[in-house]
Amino acid sequence: MVIQLHTHNNCIKQLSLGNFKHYMLKEIYETPFAIRKTYENICDVDFLKIFKHIKDITFIGCGTAYNSCLIGNELFKELGYNTVCELASNYQVSKEISKNHLHIIVSQSGETADCLKAAEKIKQLKGKLLIITNESKSTLTKFADYIILSKANKEMAVASTKTYCCQVFIFAYIYKVLSNKNYKLNIIDFSNKIENYIKNLNIQDIVEQINSLDKIILIGKDIDYLTLVEASLKIREIDYIFTLPIYSGELKHGTLSLIDNKSIVLALNSSNNAEKLKTAINEIESRGGKVLAFERFLQNLEVDSCYLPIYSIIPFQMISYYVAIERNLNPDMPRNLAKSVTVE
Ligand code: M6R
Repeated sequence: MVIQLHTHNNCIKQLSLGNFKHYMLKEIYETPFAIRKTYENICDVDFLKIFKHIKDITFIGCGTAYNSCLIGNELFKELGYNTVCELASNYQVSKEISKNHLHIIVSQSGETADCLKAAEKIKQLKGKLLIITNESKSTLTKFADYIILSKANKEMAVASTKTYCCQVFIFAYIYKVLSNKNYKLNIIDFSNKIENYIKNLNIQDIVEQINSLDKIILIGKDIDYLTLVEASLKIREIDYIFTLPIYSGELKHGTLSLIDNKSIVLALNSSNNAEKLKTAINEIESRGGKVLAFERFLQNLEVDSCYLPIYSIIPFQMISYYVAIERNLNPDMPRNLAKSVTVE
């Protein structure tokens, strides 16, 4: 099967599916290679220079790209920058932008209208703009002071999978470089590790348990919560199941009323510290709800914690793919959605 894709400059590209039935699954499997290519593209960039006088950072994106910004925002906050993360559709530029302020817009396509509008506003005020995109010739790049290309290659499925992982990788890698200027990554080991991880994932039992549900709550803390924002978008987008990511400590402030003996809650605790979600899990189980723990996928992984969100999201991407298959849905083309949203 070959899908025809109209790119922004109206040429038609065709990419072969190879042995895969759908692009979404193929693209999840392409993640390690995409990360390797991305690394090769950014390993010589002088990030210390780009960030030298920067004090404030605003991250901007839509959908999945916004969700990767949430991770960047969290990591860069740890480095001491004043950070804020904005939805491009809600971006309101201040009256002036200081020289020490870097705006980072993330967009797979580089054609998302809300991002273009935000970029235009930033450049009108002569703000510094870093663009992270998959498309080197996209409209968004024309506004850029700096461009970082995620080398995820063409993403055909509407759902962003390998691109999200590359975007998170870029943020985590820059975070490491800014923390230690002599930082070196062994990219071959790194990508092999992710490849083995994907090959050995067994998510079948979870797919069976959730595929007939009509709502799913996802709970986590800290950076895990941010991963769940993306995980829940993926399940909503591909499986048409209503999903709600909740910061675990917030359950008792309202959402607990949704829990009954039919509820299934997905819990992510990448720190492997059982105490972290204990209260929330007790709250759910004592109301008859069932908790499916995702840390089982992350056991015995020796990776820097800043890269963990890449590992954490992949089981959710896989699950959303296989639930779509169980439901007889086309995971590559979810209803009502387009790959690139070129209207505001
Ligand atoms: O091309 P962009 O990254 O700017 O697109 C932004 C969103 O429309 C996009 O990430 C969307 O949320 C994904 N299809 C979700 O999988």
